Amino acid sequence: MLQNLSDNNSILSQFVSEIRDIDIQKDRMRFRTNVERIGEIMAYEISKLLSFENKEIQTPLAKHQSKILAEQPVIASILRAGLPMHQGFLNYFDKADCAFLSAFRKHISETEFEIELGYLVSPSIENKVLILIDPMLATGRSMFSAYQSFLKNGNPKKVFVASLISSQQGIEFIQQKMPEAHIFAAAIDPELNSYSYIVPGLGDAGDLSFGEKL
Ligand code: URA
Repeated sequence: MLQNLSDNNSILSQFVSEIRDIDIQKDRMRFRTNVERIGEIMAYEISKLLSFENKEIQTPLAKHQSKILAEQPVIASILRAGLPMHQGFLNYFDKADCAFLSAFRKHISETEFEIELGYLVSPSIENKVLILIDPMLATGRSMFSAYQSFLKNGNPKKVFVASLISSQQGIEFIQQKMPEAHIFAAAIDPELNSYSYIVPGLGDAGDLSFGEKL
């Protein structure tokens, strides 16, 4: 299943427009805040596909049959670019366990690279709902490598892939390699350039959130 949240008009489109805008990007806090807000909206959309249970609660006036989330998901993010979106998800799934994995592009040549994985910390994901966050789903290789690493900690019963901007190619790669995943994107762009950056995209999401690396 693929859900592109830009298919319908909503305030999300303005947030996506602002994170793409080279002038607005100069305000790093605004960039992070918009990414966090998109994370919140995506968490809300994903919550519609989760299980809820009835709970009787007492208001000051009477009892009420409420519906509450039956179980919290595990939220797994790829460092470092995933952090602002991760916070957006945590704002809504506020009791969720979290997993983190660091990944970076180790360049063999100017345009060729391998995905190098590093720090990994994760709870058991056995029979859990797993939400994998990577803001820029470019080739999809980081996401797939991260997923394989997280699978060492169990088999989830449901998997969501959450990205800000996905490339068409990245979507197709994930659909082929992870057919069980529900993919959510705030926007889908047509192309990758020769450096495997998404075009038009927004540039480097990690640098825009936290500053340029050496
Ligand atoms: N990572 C980014 O930050 N941007 C891209 O376009 C691709 C990967």
